[in-house]
Amino acid sequence: MALPQKVRIVEVGPRDGLQNEATQVPASVKIELIHRLQDAGIGIIEATAFVSPKWVPQMADNADVMAGIQRKPGVIYPVLVPNMKGLEAAIAAGADEAVVFGAATESFSKRNTNCSIDEGLARFAEVAKAAIAHGIKVRGDISVCLGCPYEGEVAPAAVVHVAQALDAMGCYEITVCDTIGTGTAGKTRRVIEAVARHIPIERMAGHFHDTYGQAVTNVYAALECGIATFDSSVSGLGGCPYAKGATGNVATEDVLYLLDGLGIETGIDMQKLIAAGDYICGVLGRPTLSRAARAIRAKAA
Ligand code: HMG
Ligand code: MG
Repeated sequence: MALPQKVRIVEVGPRDGLQNEATQVPASVKIELIHRLQDAGIGIIEATAFVSPKWVPQMADNADVMAGIQRKPGVIYPVLVPNMKGLEAAIAAGADEAVVFGAATESFSKRNTNCSIDEGLARFAEVAKAAIAHGIKVRGDISVCLGCPYEGEVAPAAVVHVAQALDAMGCYEITVCDTIGTGTAGKTRRVIEAVARHIPIERMAGHFHDTYGQAVTNVYAALECGIATFDSSVSGLGGCPYAKGATGNVATEDVLYLLDGLGIETGIDMQKLIAAGDYICGVLGRPTLSRAARAIRAKAA
């Protein structure tokens, strides 16, 4: 299959990238990061999560973050929503897109959302119905599609079950997520092909954590399958508090380097993106995990 000519990058740094930080990152920093990312040309920025603050304290400032963003016309700011309580708060905060997040294994579903897969799907169906009635679009993420920290290998059929349910409840896009980065190119292709037998590939997205250094390769494997929307995190920040040992998402700079090299259009300015990464890494006091950002900086020095 020919590679897509255009790719949509969903920047998840402000949410996935920061949710695991032990020290509270001030809302003002999250807002500044979002502003820098939108200035770099990113069109979709996952801004925060309306989850329980007892479960993820780092996202407790969700309403402050939403209130502080100077929204750029055309940019979408999706937020994670696990239940009706989260949706009500997201609506009050003026969210324009909600992300429900299911899992392909029972153990991960229980650890991440304290319910079984099907209980979670029933909650999401209620959330999706109410969100859509409010004019809020809904994306559906599926965790642990390429391996589970508690159950190991995951059968593509388990991913398909969740994907079909998310599709039936009205999710406009369904994201295959490699939560712990154990996926390889062949596995990635197999699971995408299994889901694509039921959901049009144009409505699928990829979300790859880079724990084993495979994420850029998995993005390429997904591109070859026809996927044209990818989640990524500036500087490779991130991880899920309920997935032990999982490191950050694929770095947005590394995905952009791949896409620029393939002549695929994204609308993102690499220098401004690297500067956004420098900003958040400076605040966190840690070096970027993006190989491309490091190399481009070193060359310019
Ligand atoms: P629970 O404890 O079963 O919920 O958690 P509950 O309904 O029994 O409520 C417990 C307390 O939380 C109550 O407060 C509720 O009001 C409150 P109390 O009465 O004790 O004072 N509460 C809330 N507060 C604010 N916002 C809410 C909310 N809901 C309940 N929305 C629940 C169930 C789903 C809420 C919890 O498990 C949860 O919040 N889980 C989210 C965990 C999470 O955010 N994980 C990281 C994001 S997912 C991820 O990173 C993966 C992804 O990147 C893809 C990939 O890589 O795989 C997306
Ligand atoms: Mg993630």
